Amino acid sequence: LVLTLSLVGCGGKPAATGGDKEVKPIIVKFAHVVTPDTPKGQAALKFKELAEQKTNGKVIVEVYPSSQLYGDKEELEAAQSGNVQIIAPSVTKLVGLNPKFQYTDLPFLFPNNEAVYKFFASDQMKGLMNSLDKYNLQGLAVWPNGFKQFTNNKRPLVSPEDFKGLKFRTQAGKVLEAQFKSLGAGSATIAFGETYAALQQGTVDGQENTFNNIDTQKYQETQKYLTVTNHGRLDYMIIVNKSFWSGLEPDIRKALDDSMAEATKYAVEQAELLDKKSMDNLKNSGKMQFTELTPAQLGVFQETMKPVYAQFESVLSKELIDAAIKAGQ
Ligand code: LMR
Repeated sequence: LVLTLSLVGCGGKPAATGGDKEVKPIIVKFAHVVTPDTPKGQAALKFKELAEQKTNGKVIVEVYPSSQLYGDKEELEAAQSGNVQIIAPSVTKLVGLNPKFQYTDLPFLFPNNEAVYKFFASDQMKGLMNSLDKYNLQGLAVWPNGFKQFTNNKRPLVSPEDFKGLKFRTQAGKVLEAQFKSLGAGSATIAFGETYAALQQGTVDGQENTFNNIDTQKYQETQKYLTVTNHGRLDYMIIVNKSFWSGLEPDIRKALDDSMAEATKYAVEQAELLDKKSMDNLKNSGKMQFTELTPAQLGVFQETMKPVYAQFESVLSKELIDAAIKAGQ
């Protein structure tokens, strides 16, 4: 993977010409918070490549990784106001628009990737996507990243007791807060772009993320211990500004929709590939002690965290929780 290219404003083909007159290309800004060498970073670049190809350069996609353009706190508002055309937040960060997006944080909800993909294709997910309409936003696709693992800087986390008194960084929302509370730990919501510094400075002792986010953010430099739990999911909603999208010429929109469909397939491949690659990187880094739990030890975590389901059933709805569970059966 070639990851260090400057991604902004490069690679655009000359704009199509209409008679003598140059037709100005449509600029689509795509902002995200992770590095280019992540599933989301790679799929965003794939979308750029396809979109520019399929529109013969009538559309130029500018990809801004690593919170360069907007971070967690600003990107949703920027998308609503049309300052950025595409964002791809982790679904849980949409909690302020629809708290049901926190389904993704229910502990041990999905047993494997296939269950997650099935849920992405469900009517429940369609409903979640449609709920963005009233904010002048449109959900175009869901891209996976992977299952989350716990890291911290104090001690190996082998049982829930080991969490007592520790403080963890969370992405957003009350479900994650309740999850850590169920383990006897504290938590604080911190923007992704500020998390490395928070870990380094000891503002928080630990965090939870996918192997690939841990690896590409270099959390192994600040976190000595990782426990493999696969307890929660981290996946993305690809969101466009609705007025912008519906205002596009139908042929352009179709080319972009097709590009998004292809980029989504690529995102799935990359997520699976990079999850494994980053797990190996972290294991081989010599910087982190890995704890792999026995089924019995994992069972203790499941039991301890289970009360979170009842706590949020009225927020998430029984139908949605049941549909997610069914996807895994
Ligand atoms: C996080 O904040 O940990 C993730 O949502 C970052 C990302 O976009 O993967």
